[in-house]
Amino acid sequence: MTEYIHVSVAWPYANGDLHVGHLAGAYLPADIFARYHRLKGNRVLMVSGSDGHGTPISVEADQRGISPRQVFQHYHERFLLTQQKIGISYDLFTHTDTENHHRIAQDIFLLLLERGYLYKEEQELLYSEQENRFLPDRYVEGTCYICGYDSARGDQCDNCGNLMDATKLINPHNRSNPDDKLVVRKSEHYFLDLSKTADDLLAYLEREQDHWRPNVLSFARNLIKQGVKDGLRGRAYTRDLDWGVQVPLEGWEDKRIYVWFEAVNGYFTASVEWANDYDQPDAWKEWWYNPDAKIYNFIGKDNIPFHTVIWPAMLMGIDGIYNEGSDTHLQLPYDVPANEFMNIEGKQFSKSRNWAIWLPDILERYQPDALRYYVAMTFPESRDSDFSWDGFLTRVNNELVAAWGNLVNRMLGFAYKRFDGQVPAYDELTAADKAIIERAENAFDEVGALLEQVKLREALQAAMDVVRDANAYLNEREPWKSIKSDPADAARTVYAILRVIDNLKILLAPFLPFSSQQLHEYLGYDGQLFGDLKIEEFAESTRIHQALVYDPSKASGTWTKSDLQPGQKLREPSALFTKLDPEIVEQERAYLGAPRDEHPITLA
Ligand code: MF3
Ligand code: ZN
Repeated sequence: MTEYIHVSVAWPYANGDLHVGHLAGAYLPADIFARYHRLKGNRVLMVSGSDGHGTPISVEADQRGISPRQVFQHYHERFLLTQQKIGISYDLFTHTDTENHHRIAQDIFLLLLERGYLYKEEQELLYSEQENRFLPDRYVEGTCYICGYDSARGDQCDNCGNLMDATKLINPHNRSNPDDKLVVRKSEHYFLDLSKTADDLLAYLEREQDHWRPNVLSFARNLIKQGVKDGLRGRAYTRDLDWGVQVPLEGWEDKRIYVWFEAVNGYFTASVEWANDYDQPDAWKEWWYNPDAKIYNFIGKDNIPFHTVIWPAMLMGIDGIYNEGSDTHLQLPYDVPANEFMNIEGKQFSKSRNWAIWLPDILERYQPDALRYYVAMTFPESRDSDFSWDGFLTRVNNELVAAWGNLVNRMLGFAYKRFDGQVPAYDELTAADKAIIERAENAFDEVGALLEQVKLREALQAAMDVVRDANAYLNEREPWKSIKSDPADAARTVYAILRVIDNLKILLAPFLPFSSQQLHEYLGYDGQLFGDLKIEEFAESTRIHQALVYDPSKASGTWTKSDLQPGQKLREPSALFTKLDPEIVEQERAYLGAPRDEHPITLA
């Protein structure tokens, strides 16, 4: 049965380049998961885009003396190129400044208002007398009133993960100007009434959520229970800002929809855009209004509150939107497999200190599959993990190059030279030959089950265990010796190992799409395992926007066991992976914390 899988991926703020934290937290897991389901023949819709609004963008714009739109345009373009290079196969990676996104975010607001999910209230806010404006939460810093962390932001505490009420912070001050006196002033805002959905949210989280990661589930449940206890009624839906989606009400021209609320809407708005971009305006309903569809939200742990509380609450409130005449319900996320953080050489990522590994930079120096391999092997799925250059070197050289790459290149080269450029014919296989083929075939169920449960790191380990067993088999069979003493035996061995390699090509393809494609060609096949990733332009009435899109039309790979036939013509192979020079470890470490060589922004 074809499954409908929606892969909703966190929207990166377009205020800086993508770094390995992004890759490890959400994008690579989402891509591996999506590619697996595509190979399975399932219908996948994977969407995301640049989060272009809000204070993260305006802070950056202020610092650079350019407009928020310039900042976000610049990084959006870089996001497209970077993700194309590393192969994040979005069906649509768009952004939040499209007409489509503005319109739907406003429709959602109005529907919630009409149905009584929003209420209006005067809010006490921190006002800067120096800047003559309400200071956005992100500009405010203070001590967390829950855990005592002294650098909590006005919107969220990065230490305990709780959402913050800026006026409750202990000793709140202006982050960019410590002398700026902040006073409390009143301003009218709309709030999402969480008390209306608290029971349904708890029921949703209690219900058959055994497949959720325990840490995500308990975090989310506690948030709601704590909120109910604290009498938390709502979260502000609007802000005193001028950059963002307009509040669609008269008299509210000076206010905007809070960036978080419209950004999470993006999973929905991008799905609608995708359907329209391809002239099938209702196609998005095959996921959003299909009771059998499964929606997965791939995010980092700092995004858990908005995805397990706010977004489901909004979805409950807008059920039936754009679906007149049908009684199917809008789908809530089936799973939110949030990852923990990936540190770098033992320290937390920091943009200001440049303690970061920027993807555009390292993609200049390393193969995309080498990066994908190491990051996937180090995914912070249940606890924080660490990217170390030494670890990268070791894993790439010992595992990717020595174990997998050499297996492939040695055996393909051997077959190419000694068996006339063909998959050898054999008389019959020995028990050992059959056993190793069976071993590889059995891995499809094992690796597949782990991928479906979003245990991606384990899935990759399970596939690499087959590589290890294949090498052990080969060392026992030694075809390079038997080719002289018993050529028929060498032929059996080479056939068996090529078939194992052909199976591994698919088992590893979600993780290593580039090298699996190359291997596919060396093995003599034509065609592509996956579709193409392209950057395309889409025009709306007043704007044109660029997006990254996955075009599945040429994809022919399937999650099925190899049926490699003797006589198949091979292509001359060359090394799949480049061995790394141990010197890179010190070189790369020296970049950490130093000013970034080439400044990312060179705007005219
Ligand atoms: N841009 C925000 C962040 O990077 C939110 C991403 S998830 C979204 O943390 F769905 F809300 F967009
Ligand atoms: Zn805290």
